[in-house]
Amino acid sequence: MYRTGIMTLSDKGSKGQREDKSGPMIQTMLSTTNLYQVVKTIILPDDLETIKKNLITWVDDDHLDLILTTGGTGFSQRDWTPEATIAVCERMTPGIPEAMRYHSLQITPKAMLSRSAAGIRKQTLIINLPGSPKAVKENLEAILPALDHGLEMLL
Ligand code: MTE
Repeated sequence: MYRTGIMTLSDKGSKGQREDKSGPMIQTMLSTTNLYQVVKTIILPDDLETIKKNLITWVDDDHLDLILTTGGTGFSQRDWTPEATIAVCERMTPGIPEAMRYHSLQITPKAMLSRSAAGIRKQTLIINLPGSPKAVKENLEAILPALDHGLEMLL
């Protein structure tokens, strides 16, 4: 099973002012496949350096196979998840966000507003999902059919 981390980026969530429904939504969707073991979950504020630091720890120290982030991909002044992801990755995987936006645009034109990125650091694949549980579900369903093949190539 692929060792997976789920990182929720939310200022309010990190202070306990908002319940995280998107992290659990990712868990529920992954559990339908029997391919992913969620070994790490965390809720962090939307802070560039904090996100970078935690991504690096999960890759370099914990050797996760997959990191799924949720939140912080929009246009607000506190949305820095793609920049943190790009900063820590060695190789980008643009086809993954392309597939998510292609699929999502058939559901809502607002899908174009997600700046989500994805890439590889060492042997870990990092993928940004948008913040709402609905968006998480719609974006993940677009990529789950091909994800395990990509992860297999990274081993
Ligand atoms: N993608 C899908 N499939 N469904 C959605 O409802 N919402 C969009 C977009 N992607 C959405 C979606 C909206 S409204 C925004 S602002 C962006 O994701 C960024 O979301 P985030 O800031 O929560 O990361």
